[in-house]
Amino acid sequence: MNPLTQVDIRRAFGDGIGGAHFGDDSTEYLFSRIKRLRRAFQQAHPNFKVLDFGIGEPYEGPSQLTRQAVMAATNQPEFDGYPDLGLERLRQVVAVHFGEQFGVNVDPSTQVQDCWGIKPALDALVKVFCAPGNKSSLTSRIQVAVTVPGYPVFGTQASKLGAEVIQMPVTREHSYLFDYRVLEQCQNLHAIYVISPHNPTGRAYDQVPGFWETLVEWCRQRQVALVVDEAYCHLRWVDEDRPFTALSVPGFTDVGVVLHSVSKTLNWTGGRVGWVVGNPTIIAAYRKEYEDSSSGQTLANQHGAAESLTHFNGIIGLIRKSYIERLGRLVDVLRKHGFPVQMPDGGFFVFSPAPTEGGGQAFTDAEAFMRYLLNEQGVVSVPFGSNIRFSCTIKVGGQGQPESFDQAIEALDQRLPQDLKFAL
Ligand SMILES: Cc1ncc(COP(=O)(O)O)c(C=O)c1O
Repeated sequence: MNPLTQVDIRRAFGDGIGGAHFGDDSTEYLFSRIKRLRRAFQQAHPNFKVLDFGIGEPYEGPSQLTRQAVMAATNQPEFDGYPDLGLERLRQVVAVHFGEQFGVNVDPSTQVQDCWGIKPALDALVKVFCAPGNKSSLTSRIQVAVTVPGYPVFGTQASKLGAEVIQMPVTREHSYLFDYRVLEQCQNLHAIYVISPHNPTGRAYDQVPGFWETLVEWCRQRQVALVVDEAYCHLRWVDEDRPFTALSVPGFTDVGVVLHSVSKTLNWTGGRVGWVVGNPTIIAAYRKEYEDSSSGQTLANQHGAAESLTHFNGIIGLIRKSYIERLGRLVDVLRKHGFPVQMPDGGFFVFSPAPTEGGGQAFTDAEAFMRYLLNEQGVVSVPFGSNIRFSCTIKVGGQGQPESFDQAIEALDQRLPQDLKFAL
């Protein structure tokens, strides 16, 4: 081996991931940038308590019942083997869960399939809808549509496969709804990815009468698939907190699937269990892709998820109680400082236009405000264009953290400038 030879193995990388330009891109992934800035602040101010209202992850962990079910299953040889297409019991329990929680009937054998959480399921569904095969050409590029801002995985993975990703903006001016009629011009639209309730805006589209019915009919007429990410569907603060699924919309099963997981529903982000439910033909295609690319989800965790769903109301009741109290406090303190916010329809984020001035500074965009808040006040938030998002899942009680949520809110109140101005 010649030590002087410079090897650039990126030559071997696929174009979809950047090819030889992989890693050149100076635009760092948003969450990595925030984590890096947070680390730098903490290193520079080791004794200062950072208030992390940023990325947002449930941290309390799953219920004791969930933990015990997983531990018990781990000790049973019947859960040792390849999971293949998963636990039949989980599929059955999910079907019962959909009946009890949403009043919809699903067939556990043809309409339910497990996944390693929503993120990998989105990746598999992207392959189902966008795998170009050898018929692809620039004139017949597959198109998919996503909301912007939104959870990025569906769009990112689709563009790696060469698909054209059509962006549907969600803005405050339009009540955070998206206009899918812009897709009328599309020649080769295969799928629309929708998040419900939406992240980051917290919007629940079913609050607009007829929204879902018209969207489903639009997709039916054009034979376009609807992929609905319902990660936060049990964290809902409208309609007396009753959960909603797009699967209950008449005709939805002709065109779509919904995705759920234990991450937010059971406070169990590390469990990596979820389920895709809906149209049997899409489920069959998803199953094939799942089988081709994975040997299935850990059986003990599937068992833990199934046990937890059979005791669901008790578990979700506590999780919701904690978030609704926290969100109420967070909304109040932000409103006190002039943020034009209200309780979200769902989810655990508060989304707002970012201020343009305050604390003796002008902010050109939400990124500038985020940097000011972090670097000068030790408060973490997440910018999206001209908007800023705060999560109520802030960790408390540990080293370097506020002692309680109340203390975090009091500290936020003190650290936010008194004179924030908003261009509305
Ligand atoms: C809208 C949305 N979908 C999916 C996920 C990830 O879900 P999972 O942990 O099941 O992969 C997240 C996580 O933040 C999310 O916000």
